[in-house]
Order: sequence, then C-alpha cells, then structure tokens
Amino acid sequence: MAPVFDSRDDDSRDDKEGIVTARTDERHDRRPGLDAGQLPMPRAMSQLHRAGVHASGSGARPGSETATIGSPRLRFVPAEGVTGLETGESTHRAAERAEDGAMDVADMTGKTVVITGGNSGIGLETAVALARAGAKTVITARDPDRGDAALTDIRRRSGNNEVDVVVFDLASLASIRVGATRILGRCDRIDVLVNNAGLVLSERRETEDGFEATFAVNHLGAFLLTQLLLHRIKASAPARVVNVSSTAHRSARRGLAFDDLQSRRGYRGMQVYARSKLANIYFTTELARRLTGTGVTVTCLPPGTVATGFARDGDASGLLAFGVKVIKPFILTAEQGARTSVYLASCPEVAEVTGQYFMRRKARRPSRSARDAAAAHRLWEVSEALVAEAGAGTAF
Ligand SMILES: NC(=O)c1ccc[n+]([C@@H]2O[C@H](COP(=O)([O-])OP(=O)(O)OC[C@H]3O[C@@H](n4cnc5c(N)ncnc54)[C@H](OP(=O)(O)O)[C@@H]3O)[C@@H](O)[C@H]2O)c1
Repeated sequence: MAPVFDSRDDDSRDDKEGIVTARTDERHDRRPGLDAGQLPMPRAMSQLHRAGVHASGSGARPGSETATIGSPRLRFVPAEGVTGLETGESTHRAAERAEDGAMDVADMTGKTVVITGGNSGIGLETAVALARAGAKTVITARDPDRGDAALTDIRRRSGNNEVDVVVFDLASLASIRVGATRILGRCDRIDVLVNNAGLVLSERRETEDGFEATFAVNHLGAFLLTQLLLHRIKASAPARVVNVSSTAHRSARRGLAFDDLQSRRGYRGMQVYARSKLANIYFTTELARRLTGTGVTVTCLPPGTVATGFARDGDASGLLAFGVKVIKPFILTAEQGARTSVYLASCPEVAEVTGQYFMRRKARRPSRSARDAAAAHRLWEVSEALVAEAGAGTAF
C-alpha cells in the first residue's frame, strides 16, 4: 500500500530548521526539579551554549545562576553533531499533538509481540499498551532484576499475565543467539517484533566482538536478532517488524562512513548515535524490500523527544547528560513516546504499509541520506559480513 506523505516533513524544512523549541506553561513549571519557572544555569550551561545548545528569552544568560522562564520561550539550538535529541520539531507542538488523543491501539488478542528494551522508557510503555490490548507480550532486557521488575509492572498495569521476559545483551552476538533461541522456545508465533532497545554513549566503547558499542547495540543487535527470529515471524504472517529510529538520523547528513563504521577515526557520541539511527532506517528499507510478498511488513519511527532513562548512568556524561536533563521537563512522557510504536505494531490501517518512516502516526520522508536505497543495500551486505566474521552467522 502506498502511503500518503505529509508534506510538512520534507527535507527542506527539517534540514534547515534543526531546532528544538520548548515553551513553558503551567504544567511544565510544576514538574519536579523545576522550581517556579526557573532553570538552573550553572557554568555547564555556558559550556552547553558554546557547544551550540542555546536558551533564549528573558533571563536566559549563560553564566548567570538561574534563567527565569518568565518569557515563555526557550530555544535549544543544536550545533551540527552536538545533539541527537529530536530536531526539526517544536517539542511543545509535538507534545500538544501527542496529547491530542488517547493511545491508538487495536485488539491484539491471540497475537504475540516481542519488544527489545522493554524494561524501561518507551519499550516498557509499548509493552504495557500491547499487553493491555491482549497480546502475549515478551520483553527483552539486559539486566535480570530490571527485567523482573518490568514484568511485574507490565502485568499489574495491563491486567494481562501472559507477559514474559528474556534476558540477553544486544551488545554481544553470542548473547543475542542465546536470547533468540529462548524467544523461539517460548513463542510459537511472533506477530510483531519491535526493535526498540538503544543507547547513546559519550565515550567510545567496544563490545566483546570488537564493534563500536552504539553501532553494535543500535544496529547490529537488531539486525541479527531480527534475522534469527525471521522464520517464525514469516510463519506468523501477516506480521510486522517495527524499528525505533530517531529524528537524530538527520544529523548524519553525509550518510554512513562505510570506511569507518566502528568510529575509530574520531568519536563524537551524538554523531555516532545519529548514524546508528540512520542505520535503523536503512535496515527498515532493505528488510522491507527483501520481504516483499511474504506478508511481513517493516516500518520505522522516531518516537519524539521523550523523558525516559535514555542517556543515564554512564551511557552519557558531561555535556550530553546535562543537555538531556535540561530539556527533560519539556518533553513527551514515555507513554506518549510509545504511541507511534503501538500504532505501527497493532493498527489495521497500516497492516500492509511497508518500508516507511512514520512520525506521529503519519508516513513521512526521512532525510535525503536516509532515502539512499544503495546505501541501505550496502549496509545490509556489510552487516551480514561483520556478523559472519564475528562467528555469529545469519539466519538467511
Ligand atoms: N528518549 C528519547 O527522546 C528518544 C528519542 C529518539 C529515539 N529514541 C529511541 O527510543 C528507543 C528507546 O529508548 P528510551 O528513550 O526508552 O530509553 P531507555 O529508557 O534507556 O530504554 C532503552 C532500552 O534499551 C535497553 N538496552 C540498552 N542497551 C542494551 C543492550 N546492550 N542490550 C539489551 N538492551 C539494551 C535498555 O536496557 P537498560 O534498562 O538495562 O539500560 C532499555 O531497556 C531507543 O532506540 C532510542 O534510540 C529515544
């Protein structure tokens, strides 16, 4: 089915804008950690300012102790590569629109969904919504305690006891194999796979397989897991794969650096993250092409700028973590951030739409680089080779 693009989201608008705007209102001012309309303005803010993230409006002077948000407008203007937070959209407008309606979800009785990174944030809310809609819901988590806590939470909030957790680490190809085997053992069918897990790292780390960790978790992990589950997904058709990308992919204007996919030449956390999210779109395009005629659709989405645990606990530090904290009071809740994932996973009107990028439940054009079908094809081939070299093989 050919989707109708919303022309508001073409390249000319997004690539030029590159601005996250947040307006304060009473609701925001009452959020914990934000007293009486004031934002903390320690020295780090002026660092952030120099790096390209600006607050404007009365009182928003870098170097002062506080910025009063009496003037109702704050602008965070990311310099290229500084932030991968959702750009090209007024977060206030996004929040308003997202709050427009309730969660759009269809009946999922009799269906089985698998959601990676389902123990927190957007993945957790996606799991709650789909379990509430009747789906047998399997989440994956890398930490057993966090996985168990989420399991209890999802069962309690959804009223559905058919919820399970499989623990494995997407940063390890061997662990992914073990995890996939466990999922296949517990699921006779897989109607929906949501590749949601992801991270951003402010410092370069390597996985046990020798891959740069952001690329490994955000792209290669989803790539291998999907392939290992694909025969079951195909056998369950009509079925869906939903990949959680990010508007941050737009910061990867030059596409992927195929000669340096492991970011050895120089590491900038948000640029590496942006490229990994571009890779999610390439994976969507190429997998959709390869699955033509199988009854399995593949879509992807940016969830919006969402207040989750993303970039916490050493996953991001310094400027990046500070930037995330500063904008947190102004952005979407995890439940709002889960809405497009839940829509693509369940709603009948998108049952036959494949290879598309959705934003707020509408098919949109991703960046020009993201529409490069040759790059998508190349990434697939390179990823297959990387996974095979690392001894993990693929399922095709
Ligand atoms: N929040 C935003 O504003 C935003 C914007 C655009 C896109 N996204 C995307 O949305 C997705 C969900 O993020 P979120 O905001 O909900 O953040 P989150 O709360 O940190 O959730 C990320 C999930 O991924 C899991 N994960 C991370 N590394 C993993 C690994 N090596 N193996 C297995 N699981 C791993 C995390 O597990 P732990 O709990 O153990 O860390 C967690 O369950 C990500 O793909 C992110 O790129 C988020």
